[in-house]
Amino acid sequence: MAISNEELIGRADLDDIEAILATSNSDVDATMHEVAANSSTIFTWDYERSRAPLAKLYEKAKTSQWNANDLPWETEVDQEKVVEANQAANSYLYQSGIDTTGTPFENWGDKEWLEFGVESQNWTLSQFMHGEQGALICTAQIVETVPWIDAKYYASTQVMDEARHVEVFSRYLDTKLSGHYPINAHLKALLDDIITDNRWDMTYLGMQIMVEGLALASFGFMHQMSTEPLLKQLLRYVMSDEARHVAFGVLSLQEYYEQLSAKEIRERQEFAYEAAVRMRDRFLQQEVWERMGVDVKQAVKFVLQAPDRPIFQGMLFSKIVPNCKKLGLLDAADGWLREKFTELGVIQFEDWADTGEEYASLDMVAQDREAASA
Ligand SMILES: [Fe+2]
Ligand SMILES: [Fe+2]
Repeated sequence: MAISNEELIGRADLDDIEAILATSNSDVDATMHEVAANSSTIFTWDYERSRAPLAKLYEKAKTSQWNANDLPWETEVDQEKVVEANQAANSYLYQSGIDTTGTPFENWGDKEWLEFGVESQNWTLSQFMHGEQGALICTAQIVETVPWIDAKYYASTQVMDEARHVEVFSRYLDTKLSGHYPINAHLKALLDDIITDNRWDMTYLGMQIMVEGLALASFGFMHQMSTEPLLKQLLRYVMSDEARHVAFGVLSLQEYYEQLSAKEIRERQEFAYEAAVRMRDRFLQQEVWERMGVDVKQAVKFVLQAPDRPIFQGMLFSKIVPNCKKLGLLDAADGWLREKFTELGVIQFEDWADTGEEYASLDMVAQDREAASA
């Protein structure tokens, strides 16, 4: 049963720019988006605490809560200065050394690149905020749909974590940056797919493994690069929560996948691949080019050719690939997903640490409290 890219992602060629841009957000002025869920809400009468790894994670989550109000919000942020300082290191487009002749960037000087950097930051943090709301909603859904009491307990702590994440990104955008973006069309399509799937474990795969795996890598990268102390601290704390969230996905699915049939596992592989492509498409930042008034198709073509893009994109998948491997998704069905991740150029991360194990070392909140009481 060979299933083509055409059927899976709606295009034969991964880099088919027209097909990528055909997914665009037509709803940019809406203040609401309604999605009908198809899943059943499950009560369990089995209150026995039989899942020790989830119980341990739940205890950790209870003691590692933090209050968004305690971040140093008084920090003054000069966005242009921050962007300038980070741009050289942070952007794979700025001074990338590609010949810009005949591209929309031919006449761009430092002023335009700075403007792009500012828009790009507004866009990035806006997408983080929307993605966090997706996590809030998906995790609330998991509380309803997962049949295990230990998982319901843990998921309830994640709901609180995600509310705090939406809160901090929203507050940072409103008080420190210079504009919002509506949700990216590819991210929106992915969140809709996750929420409408009626199989409870697919919420985990889409959110905890794929979206949050990418978020964890992406926050880590931004935390490393950023010189702005408030954002740095905000990201440190969000990341400690995210590491638990991804671990929740790995620990739950490891158990559940053991009893799935080969056909069911194959469906999970396809879901993971579709999610990966949507997340890759979202990073082409089509809304930023549009707002800057450049030809979007030409800009995306330019982005796809940037020499450092494979490194940047690969880094985003550095948590997803090892976690998929741990879940057995890479090698099931004769390595179907391994092949797909190779095509995407992200397979090199398969032996990096998986998040089922590393969440304790990423708990910055606990580390700061220990340091403060020492
Ligand atoms: Fe989050
Ligand atoms: Fe999360």
